[in-house]
Amino acid sequence: MAESNLRYDGRVAVVTGAGAGLGREYALLFGSRGAKVVVNDLGGTFHGEGASQRAADVVVNEIKALGGTAVADYNSVVDGAKVIETAIKNFGRVDILVNNAGILRDRSIIKTSDQDWDFVHDVHLKGSFKCTQAAFPYMKKQNYGRIIMTSSNSGIYGNFGQANYSAAKMGLVGLANTVAIEGAKNNIFCNVIIPTAASRMTEGILPDILFNELKPQLIAPVVAYLCHENCEENGSYIESAAGFATKVQTVRGKGAVLRTSIDQKVITPEYVQSKWTKVVDMSEAQHLESIAAASGTLVELLEKLKEGKISDAEDTFKFGAKDLILYALGIGATVKDSNDLKFLYENDTDFSAIPSFFVLPGLMLSMTSNLISTALPSGSADLTNILHGEQYLEICDDIPTNGTLTTTGKVFDVMDKGSGAVVVTNAESYDESGRLIVKNQSSIFVVGAGKFGGKKNPINGVVPIANTPSRAPDASIQYKTTEDQAALYRLSGDLNPLHIDPSFAAIAGFKTPILHGLCSLGFSVRAVLAKFTDNNSALFKAVKVRFAAPVLPGQTLKVDMWKEGKRVHFRTSIVETGKEVITGAYVDLKDTSAKL
Ligand code: NAI
Repeated sequence: MAESNLRYDGRVAVVTGAGAGLGREYALLFGSRGAKVVVNDLGGTFHGEGASQRAADVVVNEIKALGGTAVADYNSVVDGAKVIETAIKNFGRVDILVNNAGILRDRSIIKTSDQDWDFVHDVHLKGSFKCTQAAFPYMKKQNYGRIIMTSSNSGIYGNFGQANYSAAKMGLVGLANTVAIEGAKNNIFCNVIIPTAASRMTEGILPDILFNELKPQLIAPVVAYLCHENCEENGSYIESAAGFATKVQTVRGKGAVLRTSIDQKVITPEYVQSKWTKVVDMSEAQHLESIAAASGTLVELLEKLKEGKISDAEDTFKFGAKDLILYALGIGATVKDSNDLKFLYENDTDFSAIPSFFVLPGLMLSMTSNLISTALPSGSADLTNILHGEQYLEICDDIPTNGTLTTTGKVFDVMDKGSGAVVVTNAESYDESGRLIVKNQSSIFVVGAGKFGGKKNPINGVVPIANTPSRAPDASIQYKTTEDQAALYRLSGDLNPLHIDPSFAAIAGFKTPILHGLCSLGFSVRAVLAKFTDNNSALFKAVKVRFAAPVLPGQTLKVDMWKEGKRVHFRTSIVETGKEVITGAYVDLKDTSAKL
């Protein structure tokens, strides 16, 4: 890179507090690269007491000795107009303003006097405001300006004993934010420097090993670059120290929505508590460019609330061939049937998912969120008192054999059935490109959560079960489940101990662990696919079931089917006991292979 490429010839730079420390280095660098420099310094102690012209004079002489042009200014930055006046009087313009002057009055918050507070604010915040305000009209007129505000990590992170200083330093960040916006159209850029440097301010505060490496001259080039006409940075916070520089930004988390509809006007502190982990989750935090972007997200939220598109929970569901195969095995697919191979072997040319696999993303969402319990006035639903009542699954697009689905879920309806409550949840799963792949609707019966004065009947949109034809079934298929069926099926994700742990099953009121309702659903869907689509998953559209009674692993399932157009009604019962376990059920097909 050519040396001295970045020059400031013809530019006038005002550096406040340039009689020492960082300011001195800025002034020297500007002076050595052709700028005419106003070396401002009041020359007091670092507590802000006294005044002396010496500090500024020494630096002016240093610049001159190196062949540069400089003039001293002894005003306090609080008299910003006078500081800028010095530049105008001597050089006729002001192009660069580095607001750098500063003092310290460190005290714990209890001991901070009004004077300590005001003095620190006056020098840092008001001083920067006054100098900037005075320089602004000149910069506007010439359609050019570069302004620096000096903040501090003490402001960004806080620092014991520096309440006044931290507050003023964060005030400067706010000031810079707005100056950057107001100046942008006139090519006036304003940025913040967050330095850490060895100076009289930090002597005795920073450990020796740091102090010796934190040379102010390692920061000066960063400030100089920010003040060059080539630099397009505006409104940024740049931290720099010890030969390191980085941009610092505010970020905003994804947050949590605390209302479920636009009509909900009251939010309880308990609900806020239940959502707190999401409120403070920063894993998907993002920087917002402007206040408009921030309010934009609120407008978007309100629109979603109006359209009823707010989800109460969100989860990702990653799956691949192994998951599809494990699921297929869990619902009884077998290599003994060559037609099942497409569900069990990833290299089969027709390898595909059994569509009922896609009940899992919805189920996993309800298991990992507190969707069900927050829907209940009692707030109490756990694995010992919930039963799967009904399930609806609809395939909305081509189903993939691997990928990551994002599932959003919401409580759709809550019913009071006396002996318990029914919570209906809706879940929608989207693929990586935002395509809606499947919709799930689950009705969960929460034992003992009823009698809260709620309504009995479902709202519109809760998918009803169908009347099973009264004629003899058009077809029946039997499948024998194995003793290990639940042990195998649970590996697809539903790890509720009710299905494997005898003592847990006893607590929930069962003699032995029971089979998952969704496992029986899987067997039944297999029967319909086998009978009416030649196991072609692509012809499957939707399934709806009601779970009427539990199945024990090892029992034989009989699926009776009635075909009516593209709808196949079915009923599943236990051969050994004759008990109906799935009723009012149907599969809707897109088409059939039409054999009967
Ligand atoms: P310094 O004390 O060496 O230099 C500050 C200069 O400002 C002094 O020469 C002082 O006479 C002058 N000054 C004080 N009040 C003034 C007023 N009312 N009008 C005009 N000049 C005045 O301090 P240092 O370390 O060079 O600090 C420069 C700036 O950087 C300050 O704003 C400070 O808060 C900030 N800063 C410094 C850090 C560091 O590690 N040194 C860390 C974070 C921020």
